[in-house]
Amino acid sequence: MDDIRKKLELLDMSRLPRHVAIIMDGNGRWARQRLMERSDGHVEGVNSVNRITRITSDLGIRYLTLYAFSTENWNRPRPEVDTLMHLIGETILKETPDLLANNVKINLLGEIERLPEEVRKNLEYGRRETEHCTGLELQICLSYSSRWELTRAARELAVKAAAGEISPDEIDETLFAGSLATASMPDPDLLIRTGGEQRVSNFLLWQIAYSELYFTPILWPDFDEAAFIDALVDFQQRERRFGKTSDQVNSII
Ligand code: FPP
Repeated sequence: MDDIRKKLELLDMSRLPRHVAIIMDGNGRWARQRLMERSDGHVEGVNSVNRITRITSDLGIRYLTLYAFSTENWNRPRPEVDTLMHLIGETILKETPDLLANNVKINLLGEIERLPEEVRKNLEYGRRETEHCTGLELQICLSYSSRWELTRAARELAVKAAAGEISPDEIDETLFAGSLATASMPDPDLLIRTGGEQRVSNFLLWQIAYSELYFTPILWPDFDEAAFIDALVDFQQRERRFGKTSDQVNSII
């Protein structure tokens, strides 16, 4: 706790990111290192989800987007997929009262209709119960991939254009971004990936155009509040230029 308090002093509370996205990687390796089943790593990973959601909400960060299950994850061995699905559904059911008490709103991103009915029921319960919450918006990406999302947006716009509802000339960045699952939120300021790999794995490819990327070797089940604050401190040391020069960014005019 003292460690966290000391680290918090390094944070400039006036320059926190508005939106943090996380690729939670390393559950399987965490388990294997302990001669446990990969699924045990996912169970432990849920504790990290709870910890990081709590501190994000406590810090007053507005949006947290978690990559919980990718489209490609369907190709994992069936028992692992089943365990993950069950775990996600149970976690939402169990955590919803706490999320509600903390004014956290759950949003679901991805092809939710592909999930088993039992899991969808729990997810829908969590979404509905927290719909009115005005604090942290917690996006859980499930059966999500960026290429799926981009293709769907392109198709939707094509259908509207074919029906004469919009003209192709109207399709600009704003209209396109408005067709994505993240339409109602700002792009992530910070993308964190745990587990040591340095890639973005089909996650929010449009939205991370100007995000700061932070890669850490820490495996997701070990990613705690202190590690999260380290990422935020690192973020605050970056100069975000959005294509401008350093002088332009630092000029007060
Ligand atoms: C990647 O680790 C992790 C996942 C595919 C699943 C992450 C999901 C959770 C932690 C549960 C989330 C629950 C909620 C409710 C949001 P990996 O298995 O790829 O690890 P490895 O790279 O070490 O094999």
